[in-house]
Amino acid sequence: MITTSPTRAASGEIDLQVESRVRQYLGDDGYAQALAPLDQPCGLPNSAFWSEDWLALEQERIFRRNWIFAAADGELDGPGAMKPLEVAGTPLFLVKGRDGKVRAFHNVCRHRGTQLVTAPCRQATITCPYHAWSYDLQGQLRRRPHFNGPDQHEAVAPGEAPELYLYAIRCESWNGCHFVDLSGTAAPLADWLAPLMARTRAYDLTPIRWIGKKSYRIKSNWKLVLENYMEGYHVFAAHPRLIAHAPMNVRWSGEWIGHVFYNDYVAPQVTVGRGDALPHFPGLTPEDTRRGLWFACLPNFAVEVYADQFVVLAPFPYGPDETLEELHFFVIGDEAAQGSRYAVARQELMDMWHDLNLEDVSLLERLQQGRRSPAFDGARLSPAWDGPVRELSQQVLQSILRP
Ligand code: FES
Ligand SMILES: [Fe+2]
Repeated sequence: MITTSPTRAASGEIDLQVESRVRQYLGDDGYAQALAPLDQPCGLPNSAFWSEDWLALEQERIFRRNWIFAAADGELDGPGAMKPLEVAGTPLFLVKGRDGKVRAFHNVCRHRGTQLVTAPCRQATITCPYHAWSYDLQGQLRRRPHFNGPDQHEAVAPGEAPELYLYAIRCESWNGCHFVDLSGTAAPLADWLAPLMARTRAYDLTPIRWIGKKSYRIKSNWKLVLENYMEGYHVFAAHPRLIAHAPMNVRWSGEWIGHVFYNDYVAPQVTVGRGDALPHFPGLTPEDTRRGLWFACLPNFAVEVYADQFVVLAPFPYGPDETLEELHFFVIGDEAAQGSRYAVARQELMDMWHDLNLEDVSLLERLQQGRRSPAFDGARLSPAWDGPVRELSQQVLQSILRP
């Protein structure tokens, strides 16, 4: 039985009703395990990786109340380009307007609730396939065929029927990345990104250019995807090419800065796919030219930066044991993104990441399966490497319990 809660002590205030749900889903022993110090078996218990109820709580309290990376601007190639997505169990889509602005809407027709967009596409209007109600790219209803009887079509002037507009979702952009906030009340995007900006002051991020993405459906919980992204302990055992680039003796555990995890190293040299062939950020020191740094802004905006690239890893929970993971690749400047002389280097960069990611996917799926075992009663963590992994459990709990 827990008598005190470090989470409560750390955050000052918690939502007591939500805490009773946390206790219900985790059990008192599981809650205590989640809060246990590093030198004891610790971390969120198995139910936090397999329970639908727990995932629903995470969706409601974390994914619906924070900024969520939703798309790269490069995916929305021109006016009318659309990308459907599920965030916090909620179907939504992003669409680029004729004004170049990207907007997000709930992915549901106002007539009888049909899902409007099922695949990335580009169209002049948002037209429902069921009875052809049609909305403009700003989500305003514009046409209802046969609505008033046979051949009695209704045209709606811009601004005329706001009660029938698509429901908009708060959406903001930063350097070619689009984020959504389902609550509409999250702190300003710039505040949320501030720890990342503080650690990348040496980098002018404005010239990053999107060159493509890869998507993976991983049979693993989203928290395991993030933990694995954060920790460098497994690199020597799992990633032969990465360890050849940066050995264990240049690595450290990383640290949390508020809701943002940070880690970095300086490699002995640049290598294929990491700094050797593509243009670099302007004005880097020789040391930064060999530096790799990475972030994880809770819950789904993880970023890895090398001298010649900016790579986003975005996990989206689709079930307790299923995560959609998107990898987005950015290089530095228009010539790097489009020049034919860099075509091979661009492909090498994306191939390198794909190979690396597949090395992780099989481990993530085994981690998930391991959490079905009642014999797994908390992690025995390395004090040298795993402190931030333990803290992810605390971060998740704090985010859930925050009033
Ligand atoms: S449900 Fe969309 S037009 Fe009828
Ligand atoms: Fe890995």
